[in-house]
Amino acid sequence: MLRTIIMTTLLTTLFITNSNISFAGDIKAGEKVFNKCKACHSVDEGGKNKLGPNLWNIVGSPIAAVEGYKYSKALKAYADEAGNWNEENLTAWFKKPKGLVRKTKMIFPGLKKADDITNLLAYLKANGK
Ligand code: HEC
Repeated sequence: MLRTIIMTTLLTTLFITNSNISFAGDIKAGEKVFNKCKACHSVDEGGKNKLGPNLWNIVGSPIAAVEGYKYSKALKAYADEAGNWNEENLTAWFKKPKGLVRKTKMIFPGLKKADDITNLLAYLKANGK
């Protein structure tokens, strides 16, 4: 009986700890993932547009709306249809940009690991309002 209680407690603790990591995302780990994006994107407030637009406060913001950046027609059309970036469409975008918007000019194959995407989202949210 005691063993069962101990095992159950242990398993529950493990489960909670793990799900915390995967639900909340790890900002530090996300910063590392962002190294893959840095060549083309800044993320600081008022940062410059590079080959891609600045990504400050991108989660929850309108799609294709950073000032002074020239977007592809394809991403603008997607903006008309989808409105804002949220965790759901950003997850699809990070997995495979061309899977979400076939003719986008963002040349990036995508992130394979679900954890990388969760952590990246946490990092992007931390770089926002
Ligand atoms: C080789 C350059 C390049 C890399 C690497 C790259 N991007 Fe992009 N990104 C772009 C370009 C170019 C666009 C504009 C796409 C368009 O107009 O079709 C873009 C657009 C975006 C947008 C839409 C922004 C908006 O204002 O609507 C997001 C979000 C984004 N990128 C995130 C990322 C993230 C996160 C990574 C790393 C995992 C990444 N990108 C890697 C070039 C890049």
